[in-house]
This record gives sequence, C-alpha cells and structure tokens, in this order.
Amino acid sequence: MTQDFVTNQEVIQAAHRNMDAGAWDYLSGGSESETTLRRNRLAFDRLAFRPRILVDVSDIDTTSTFLGHAMRIPVILAPVGSQQVFTPEGGAAATKAAAEFGVLDVVSSVTEPSLEDIAAAADNPKIFQLYLTGDWVWTEEMIARIKAAGYEGLCITVDTARPSRRDRTILSRWSPRANFQATTTRTSYQVSGGRTGGNASTVTWEMIDRIKDLAGLPFMLKGIATPEDAKLAVEHGVDVVWVSNHGGRQLDHGLGTMEMLEEIVDAVAGRAEIVLDGGIQRGSDVLKAIALGANATATGKLQSWGLGAAGTQGLVRALEILEDELIVAMSLLGVTTLGDASPSYITKTDAVTQAHEMSSWINMPESRIL
Ligand SMILES: Cc1cc2nc3c(=O)[nH]c(=O)nc-3n(C[C@H](O)[C@H](O)[C@H](O)COP(=O)(O)O)c2cc1C
Repeated sequence: MTQDFVTNQEVIQAAHRNMDAGAWDYLSGGSESETTLRRNRLAFDRLAFRPRILVDVSDIDTTSTFLGHAMRIPVILAPVGSQQVFTPEGGAAATKAAAEFGVLDVVSSVTEPSLEDIAAAADNPKIFQLYLTGDWVWTEEMIARIKAAGYEGLCITVDTARPSRRDRTILSRWSPRANFQATTTRTSYQVSGGRTGGNASTVTWEMIDRIKDLAGLPFMLKGIATPEDAKLAVEHGVDVVWVSNHGGRQLDHGLGTMEMLEEIVDAVAGRAEIVLDGGIQRGSDVLKAIALGANATATGKLQSWGLGAAGTQGLVRALEILEDELIVAMSLLGVTTLGDASPSYITKTDAVTQAHEMSSWINMPESRIL
C-alpha cells in the first residue's frame, strides 16, 4: 500500500528493492565524478531560512499557475527518458500521476510508450520535450505529431550537445536502449535512432528560432545555466527559462542550480517564467527556489523513484509527501502563499552534511540505502 510510505526515504528504498542494479544506477547517477550532481544538493544545503513568527498560518495555500495551468504545488514532472525501466507503463504512469495529483507533466522524447499513447493516458495538460536528433524533415514530422496529439507546449533541452559519460552505467555496461529493445517494438519509440541524452551538437540559436516559429506553442528552453544565456533566451522570445544542469548528468564540474538562480532571475527580469530543477527532494527545497524567484521547480530523480516504488501511486505518494513538507515549511517560515516567499526569507550559510544524491534523508548514507 503506497499510503504506507511515510517519508520519501521509504519510497526510495522500495524503488531500490524493485529495480535491477543497472536501472538503479541509470536513475540515481550523474556524469563522471558526479561533482555537479552533488553541488545541486550542496547549493540547497548552503541556504538557510529566516523565519518570521506570529503570523496566522492556519490557512496555507501551495497552489500557483504555470503557463496558465493550475498547479497544486509548484513542482513540474521533469522529462525523464526510459521510464519503462522503472515501471511497465513508463511515461503513461507518470502522466497519470500528474493528472491525479494536479501538476504539469513534461514528457520526454525518449521514453516509452509513444507520445500519442502518453497523450491519451490521461486528460491533463502536457508539454513535450524534444531532443533534436534528426534532420529538419524529421523535426517537422515530430512537431506535427506533438501538435496532433494535443501537447500544450514544447520544451527543447539544450544541455545535451553530446551524450555525457556516466561512469556508473558505463562500468556496468547497462543502457536503457538495450533494455528497451528487449521489451518493446522499435516502431513505438518516439525518436528513431535516438538515445537517452540526445545528441544535438550542431544546434544553435538559429535552429531554436526556426523550431519555435514552426511549433507556435508555448516554448521552454531547458538547460540554461548562466545569466548570459538566460538573457539571450528572453531576446529569442522563449516563454520559459528552465534553469537546469540535467540533474548533474551532463557537464561535470558545473555549479549547483541554486547557485545560479538569483543571477538568472535578475537577467530574465520578469520577461519569462522560470523553472529550476536539480536536487529538488524536500518541500523546503521547493520553498527556497520559489523564495529566490523561480515560478516553479521540477523533479527528475524523486519522480523516478516514486515510479520505481509503485508506479503511478508511488509517484502520487511521493508528491503528497512533498506537499506535506512544503506546507510545514511555509507554516514555520511564516508565509501563507507562495507569492509571500521572497529573498528576505533566505540567507547563505554553511552546509552541515556531505552532499550526495541521498543526503536529504539523514539515515540513508549513499552506501547504505536499505
Ligand atoms: C533517469 C533520468 C532521465 C532523464 N531523461 C531526461 C530526458 O529524457 N530529457 C531531459 O530533458 N532531461 C532528462 N533528465 C533530466 C531531468 O529532466 C531533470 O533536469 C533532472 O532530473 C533534475 O534533477 P533531479 O534529478 O535532481 O530532480 C533525466 C533525468 C533522470 C534522472
């Protein structure tokens, strides 16, 4: 029973029990030394709250809108490839959870089942994330399919100019693609010849302009890590600047995303909506990002651990726990709406733990997950 999961630690432990070692490493690992992955957590750990007292917090409102869509909590399901290795329903399980719980889903172009099947799985607003892995004719065909299936936005991921080296899965010789081929027919895969991580080494701003014009949909650029590029993105008319380093899975030795946020918020200056992902694991993380100017956050690993624990219901439970934590954090900080949270509630400090992908759960050192 998914209700039995009382913390997300238990969700993660159930996912670990259910998954084979290769899939676990694919989900949980990052690139090379995993420095970027750890810095995502470290950047949250280096921020502390400045709570205000004696505020009536009997009524806490965690809702917001993002691109005009209602959000029960400001946590988007980030695009995650090969979700069929976490749960048999793959991306359909994630979108059902998004619909049931009430958050926006961004569907990866490299997950099973097909983009049409995921669109049909639940009647909720969805955005499609496209890796640019084909020629222009292929791109046109993909955008036609995405629009015909009813997706309400397009997300282009731009931190994957080349697939990265992820040592955990390189060492175990495991690939989602091999696993995928063993279980499904190739024709239903969205991106012919595609691979997780994508390869878009020739894509430049000019191509982004062409795709944006062709699609005519609300447009997200995912993987922005500097104010310079955030400014350019706004100048190119994007609707959403998505601050991300791919969860530490692409360029190693980058900053944690929360270290970039304030400068990017300044550069965007309200001209686009801002999403932040990378290390979102607790309600307090969500609140810190919102206080420093993000309109929404997104989750990749926690989402996937939820799916690995118990499919749709495991993910719904993970989101419920995140929501509980957010309500507690808002109450104890002294803010009743997300709009009340501002930089004045945050200050810089030292981290107290060694950051890693499990360090949000105090009795779960990385070497002792179970
Ligand atoms: C297993 C896995 C697969 C991913 N696949 C994709 C993908 O297909 N497209 C994409 O844009 N980002 C992908 N990402 C990155 C996420 O969208 C997101 O940026 C990242 O996971 C956020 O960090 P977090 O895992 O700490 O929440 C993937 C992440 C994970 C963990």
